[in-house]
Order: sequence, then C-alpha cells, then structure tokens
Amino acid sequence: MRRLFLTIVLAVAAAVAFAADPPRATTKCGPWVVGVTETEMTVVWTSTERSMGWVEVAPDDGSHFYAVQRPRYDEDFMGRHVVSTVHHVRITGLKPGTKYRYRIYQQGVDDSGHNPVPSGYISASGVYKREPYAIRTMNSSKEDCTFTMINDIHGRDSMMLALTKDVKSQNPDFMVFNGDMVSFMGSTEDIEKGFMTRATETFATDIPLVYVRGNHETRGPGFSEYLNLFPTPTNTPYFTFRQGPVAFVVIDSGEDKPDSDIEYGGTAAYDAYREKMAAWLKQTLLSEEFRSAPVKIALLHIPFENTAGWYGPNELKRLVMPILNEAGINLMLSGHNHRYSYREAGSYGNNFPILVNSNNDKVNVRATKTQIDMEVVDAAGKVLHKHTVKVK
Ligand SMILES: [Fe+2]
Repeated sequence: MRRLFLTIVLAVAAAVAFAADPPRATTKCGPWVVGVTETEMTVVWTSTERSMGWVEVAPDDGSHFYAVQRPRYDEDFMGRHVVSTVHHVRITGLKPGTKYRYRIYQQGVDDSGHNPVPSGYISASGVYKREPYAIRTMNSSKEDCTFTMINDIHGRDSMMLALTKDVKSQNPDFMVFNGDMVSFMGSTEDIEKGFMTRATETFATDIPLVYVRGNHETRGPGFSEYLNLFPTPTNTPYFTFRQGPVAFVVIDSGEDKPDSDIEYGGTAAYDAYREKMAAWLKQTLLSEEFRSAPVKIALLHIPFENTAGWYGPNELKRLVMPILNEAGINLMLSGHNHRYSYREAGSYGNNFPILVNSNNDKVNVRATKTQIDMEVVDAAGKVLHKHTVKVK
C-alpha cells in the first residue's frame, strides 16, 4: 500500500514537472534558404526539440523589424501545422530581384496527449541585437548571374570554412554545393556537423543555396532525409531554375557503380531512376521557358568520361549527354573526381565544355548574355585556372 502511494506521488510529481517545464525548443542549425525563384523561397532549419516552426518576412525598407506586425508564414501539411525537429517554410508572393528580411520562430510542444500542444515557450532568431537575416530573390531581367561552387567536401569542416569564409562579403547571387558534401547520409546531426553548421555561419542565412545531389548523398540510412533538408520545387533532386540570362538544370547522378554492386546491399535502383529522370529532362529542356534563356548551364556531380568510365558516368553519358547537346547547353559543372580538369567541347561527343572542380577549390562564375567567365580559386584565395566560354 505504501509502495502504491509512493508510486502515485511520483507519477503526479512527474506530470506536474512536465507541465511546468515543457521542452524549450531552440534553433539547432540554420536557417538556410533553398528553392529561391523570382517570387518564392523555402527557409529551412533544425530545432533542438520537436516544435512548430514559422517565419516572418519584412521588406528591406529601413524600418525596424519591430515597426509593425510582419506577415507570418506557417509550415502546413495536409491541413495541420507541422511539428518536427526539421522545419521548411515556403514563402510566396515575393517580387523579383528584391531583398527580404526574415525571422524564424519555433515553439516547443507538450507531446503527452493524442495531439502535440504548443507549450508556450517561443524562441526566434535575433532582430534586435543583430541585423535580421536577408535573402534576395532571383531576377530573370538581371544583366548578369554570379555564383560560387564547391563540391566533395566529405564533411571536412576546415576545408568548408576555408572555401566559404569570404562568400558573404563577395555576395554572389547564390552558392552551389555540387555533391558529396558528406560521405554518407547518417543522422541529421551528421549533416549539421559535416557542413551545414559551418555553412550557416559563413553564408547560408543570407545567400541562396542550390544543392546538387552527389552519389555519396544517396548512401546511408538517412538518405531519404535529403529532400526534407534540401527541398526542391519538383520534390525530386533534379529541377531547373533561372537567374539573370542563365537557365540552370540541376541533374541527379545516382550511384557510380552498377545497382547490383555489393556496396549497395541490394538497395540500389538507379537504372530505372536515371531513365525516369532522362524522360523528365528531355521534356523540360524542350520547354519554351528553358529554350528561350540566352545562356544554359547544367550542374551534374558525376561528369561524363571519355573512356574507361565507371558504370554510372557511362550511363549518364548515354542517357543525359545527348539531351544536353540537343538543348544547346553552354557549360556543365561537375565534381566527383577530386581533381580539376577542363574538357573542351567536342572532346568526346559533348557539344559544350565541362569543368570538373577538385575537392579543395571553389569556382567563381559570372555569366552574361554573351559569355561565361570562370575562375578556379584555392583555399588560400589563389586563382589557379581561368576559363571563358563565348555564348553564340
Ligand atoms: Fe562523388
């Protein structure tokens, strides 16, 4: 009897303690901004606890963020506010080429009942002691397009820092991760520690991010979290977007070895996946929207190879290269090989040059209607290679 009484007392005390001290959700990593178009963008971040997330947006008009109530954008799915440790909030109704300030919020929940109940504790990104985060939307009327690309970081934080520490001050239109930023997709924490915490510190709160999936992001138990962390307009890792005179197509490599390889343990099905993507590619690149762009750039992690390529690059060459040739692609940017190379147009059936960036350098690109200028820069800031592609 005495033991039962003690058990009841402890249970009541625990319930009171839980109710009085709900989880205090705060930002764990982020935010970063993907899927930026002329009128929309998606803000993504992770929280320390399951929580509801939302974003407030303000124009960049010199007013204090606290001047008026700012419009609130919730993360809704099938009629409910999402409760999660990963948040992605789509912002709509924006104007092209316009800078917007934004603030992220999260509210922890009481998970003890049938439905999570907001606990009352709300945390948000700073707008008082620091400037709010800000992102500029894309603009197809802009005279040029500038971006910086890195790839094959494989979770090396020091290299990530060295290659991105100047990005914010250089202020490109967007940043490209061209695959293999980690060696495999484990937990969300692996992504955070591997590169996103550093990316958030150096640029990702204020510069749009374009992520091209590499073959290593296809590996590991957390591979399906990819689109949750880096959502795209098509809900697939392949998509198109436009900035200035350039139409971009982001292509997904799949794996580099045959699906039957022992390394994939019977889980790989990239043959069918690449065929499906190629059908989408053929249709999309023939669209007036893509064809009418003065400049066309393809982003693909695994480059086509001339001879003795592995199965993955061979399949990409067979399926994708003819479509890119027909679409009049002006340039393709790749990684994967961990060494620099520049393949001229016509090297092996490609109608466009291919720049393959190493795992220790970045590529700064500026494109106008008439030419694409590239410089390959090492971690110390030394320019290693320069290339210009004339656009006919
Ligand atoms: Fe790779």
